[in-house]
Amino acid sequence: MAKGLGLTVLLALLPAALGQLNTAARVAGKKYFGTATNEFQFSDAPYLAELNNTQDFGQLTPANAMKWELTELVQGQFTFENASLVVEQARNHGQLLRGHTCVWHTQLPSWVSTGGFDKKTLLSVVDKHCSTVVGHFKGQMYSWDVVNEPFNEDGTFRETVFYNTTGTDYIESALRAAHHADPQTKLYINDYNIDGTGPKSDAMYNLVKSLKKKGVPIHGIGVQGHLVVGTVPTTIEENFRKFASLGVEIAITELDIRMETPATEALLAQQKEDYKTVISACKNVPACIGVTVWDWTDKYSWIPGVFPTEGAALPWDENLEKKPAYYGTLEAFLGH
Ligand SMILES: *[C@@H]1O[C@H](CO)[C@@H](O)[C@H](O)[C@H]1NC(C)=O
Ligand SMILES: *[C@@H]1O[C@H](CO)[C@@H](O)[C@H](O)[C@H]1NC(C)=O
Ligand SMILES: *[C@@H]1O[C@H](CO)[C@@H](O)[C@H](O)[C@H]1NC(C)=O
Repeated sequence: MAKGLGLTVLLALLPAALGQLNTAARVAGKKYFGTATNEFQFSDAPYLAELNNTQDFGQLTPANAMKWELTELVQGQFTFENASLVVEQARNHGQLLRGHTCVWHTQLPSWVSTGGFDKKTLLSVVDKHCSTVVGHFKGQMYSWDVVNEPFNEDGTFRETVFYNTTGTDYIESALRAAHHADPQTKLYINDYNIDGTGPKSDAMYNLVKSLKKKGVPIHGIGVQGHLVVGTVPTTIEENFRKFASLGVEIAITELDIRMETPATEALLAQQKEDYKTVISACKNVPACIGVTVWDWTDKYSWIPGVFPTEGAALPWDENLEKKPAYYGTLEAFLGH
């Protein structure tokens, strides 16, 4: 009671800007709070108005536009027009950018997945793709998710066309190509269900450790943060500290915490606590440099399309109204 009242009074006394997510993240020592977005949503004026609000969003990630099938659908023919719209939006507002993603087994054109390339050829295909895409946006990206989702749940490598053909060599090739194309951008490997400790997190730890030992450029671990209300791991901070011991940075890259819909007051209250848990873990570990939500409003969440009985995963609802999760995020950054 006293604590809640104290926060209310404090927030009332602070300048309004401090009561917003990116500003609060910066106060907590982080580089940004940001969001994924799609350029085709920019025609939604109320959506765009809030996306422009740098007090909530200091960083953007193109949710789709930089993926392989949207940048090199036909071998050797690169298209960047749509991705450039997101880059321009961020530049207009002084927001940082995370590039997403060079090598992923999904949204991958069939000329890659069923091309029947031998190892040497596939490695050169990966090299060419990453060099070209990362090189195109040279100097403009804070970081890149160079490799996305390389692991199975048990910590073994996912048997994608890349792994089946090259073993783990594709990871090294992609990272080296990206580094050569833009030596300043920070290179990440990104995955889900590596929030808390467990076999998949151990696998990520071991991969990054071995890459660093070999001198392969790797600067960050992307923890996606696709979570479920009421089941958020209790070991996130412990896991982040272990990742940090490798000397890399950590970012929460795709945060959303879904629930069975329709949302109830009890579920929304639990979701607020779950956002607080995740954000507090990032706040408490200096190597965790920022948090990105996978879009900010339930209006544009990917969840119902993939998990039809679930949704309401983001800090703003479908009408662009702030939910308890918004205030949970704020409270966690401000340390209450
Ligand atoms: C948002 O920013 C874009 C430029 O990136 C601008 O065209 C648009 O008018 C802005 N909208 C609002 C509501 O501020
Ligand atoms: C760019 O986006 C538009 C509108 O969403 C879409 O019709 C078009 O196919 C996209 N271009 C590429 C090259 O993906
Ligand atoms: C990779 O190899 C495994 C084991 O042989 C197989 O089950 C899987 O379908 C292969 N993946 C692809 C993308 O070809």
